[in-house]
Amino acid sequence: MIQADLTAQVDAAMTRAPFIPVVVIKDAAHARPLSKALARGGVPVIEITLRTDQALDAIRAAVAEAPEVLVGAGTLTSPKDIGLAQAAGAAFGVSPGLTPELLQAANDAGFPLLPGVATASEIMTGLAHGLTRFKLFPAVPAGGYELLKSLAGPFPQVRFCPTGGITLETAPKFLSLQNVSCVGGSWLAPQAMMEAGDWDGIERIARESVEKVAG
Ligand code: 3PG
Repeated sequence: MIQADLTAQVDAAMTRAPFIPVVVIKDAAHARPLSKALARGGVPVIEITLRTDQALDAIRAAVAEAPEVLVGAGTLTSPKDIGLAQAAGAAFGVSPGLTPELLQAANDAGFPLLPGVATASEIMTGLAHGLTRFKLFPAVPAGGYELLKSLAGPFPQVRFCPTGGITLETAPKFLSLQNVSCVGGSWLAPQAMMEAGDWDGIERIARESVEKVAG
């Protein structure tokens, strides 16, 4: 696949909702009700991180059972993870950082990847691989709003999904930046609510979050 198509697919993930919920799923049976609750609340996109032994099953389940949701795989740290995510049916991948090996593997596989960056140099490495869409990670510790504003000057073609340390309260400020397409965060799917099966509660958080940034 050519790079422009991959960028369009990453854009589709970044513009599907104002947020990309970052989730850690400990029980693959949660994937379906969680994905559907987020979608009902107005957030039909999810990043299921490869941080548990259930993650790949959870991605497969979400893809099969919640077709209204765009399902991504997160915490991809090696070329092998790219293959696993793609084979599980993920529509896009997210990584905490950026290595030339990871970018090459994603490009070779024709897999849309949103890699993490925290510096201008990392952005330049991504640009050299044809990428213009990045996760800023960890967004707040790395410099947050001020860093994003500073990066807009030298990199006007770049769009970010800042993730890490962002809350519902701070999300609107990030989303007001012209170079921010969406923000990522774990607040949309609290672990305790998932374990309690409180899907209505998660739907409510998603809806309140969407309403807050719309207003
Ligand atoms: C993560 O590392 O889990 C994501 O970046 C989400 O970060 P957050 O919990 O600060 O939203």
